[in-house]
Amino acid sequence: MRQSHILAIDTSCDETSVAISQSDCILANQLSSQIQAHKEWGGVVPSLARRKHEELIDLVISRALKYSRKALEDIDYFAVTLGPGLAIALEVGIAKAIELAQKYNKPIVAINHMEGHIYSSLARNSKGNPKHEYNFPLIAVLISGGHTEVVLMRNHGDYEIIGETLDDAIGECFDKVGRMLNLGYPAGPVVEKIAEKGNARRFSLPLPLANSNNPGFSYSGLKTASMKLITDLLPPLNEYGEKFARRQQGYNSIALKIERKEIIANICASFQDAAVAHLVDRLDFILKNKLNDLKIRDMIFAGGVSQNKYLKKILRRKYGKSCHLHFPVNKRLFTDNAGMIAVAAHFNILRNNYTKDYSLLDRKPGWRIGSIG
Ligand code: KG4
Ligand code: ZN
Repeated sequence: MRQSHILAIDTSCDETSVAISQSDCILANQLSSQIQAHKEWGGVVPSLARRKHEELIDLVISRALKYSRKALEDIDYFAVTLGPGLAIALEVGIAKAIELAQKYNKPIVAINHMEGHIYSSLARNSKGNPKHEYNFPLIAVLISGGHTEVVLMRNHGDYEIIGETLDDAIGECFDKVGRMLNLGYPAGPVVEKIAEKGNARRFSLPLPLANSNNPGFSYSGLKTASMKLITDLLPPLNEYGEKFARRQQGYNSIALKIERKEIIANICASFQDAAVAHLVDRLDFILKNKLNDLKIRDMIFAGGVSQNKYLKKILRRKYGKSCHLHFPVNKRLFTDNAGMIAVAAHFNILRNNYTKDYSLLDRKPGWRIGSIG
């Protein structure tokens, strides 16, 4: 059987990404990150994201084609993220996919961004590796800056959200705590790095929804508790405070700096430990109380936060023997990228889920996986 070539586009947030795949094997996965442009605002600014996508999309498409040594004439299907994401950013990718599909008279595969994240853990490289083995039903744990959700996947294309955050997403919580500690944006990886030097038992933080029957997650209480620790233990040392402290007997600025560093490391470690403990506690609840009959043996983890090594260590310790844990195989596949959209498109194509009626394609900023959108 001839394997189809797919060109996939994702402009759902702050990465302009284009990928080329041959079935589920990714030949090129190019992206242009806008993190620098949004950094000074401490988060993503939708109008700026749209402008950047418009500026970058053609360039990223030509880079992906060049890298994969393909031409637009070789493409059999165009795939694009319809949602969830930022409405005005999604529009850029959709318009471009329609323009190209119309020009080359090819179908479009409409993809849910979270479905893409699931397939990021099942992607293969241009040599067809790794060979993934998994059995349905499985669960996918999607943890990023915008999402914290556990999805039951009974088969390809058959999704049900079992639990999701009631307030903040886990990555958002890492970012907000990190921002308060002046660790830049996105702060998750920095919090993880600093936490390596801290003591996770130093501060005890709440375990949200402990002993409740709620299969969801709640990160806002943990965020508030961590922020309170920060304001209590790390009063800002501005110039005035510095002068005042200097006048106090026995003040030693180096010792104070070391002490502050130690406090920051302990806060990062304690926060990270609590964030992971909450994720695992609710996951355990879901597996034991909601999905016990299904005997889940495969778990997919995806989204930016699933790069966290401390989280991986705890997950492997807890579920490594009873389940097969799947993580994206390379760094690019963890964060937003179009490679995962191409792989998801491949499995949609196998179910004849594509269209040439381009008028059906509209952005779906709040599209929940498993629903019509
Ligand atoms: O999936 P992603 O790249 O983008 C979306 O949000 O869709 O996820 C980004 C999030 C950010 O909140 C970032 O701080 C977090 O993932 N993140 C991490 C780590 N790496 C990225 N959080 C904790 N530990 C990490 N190592
Ligand atoms: Zn994402």
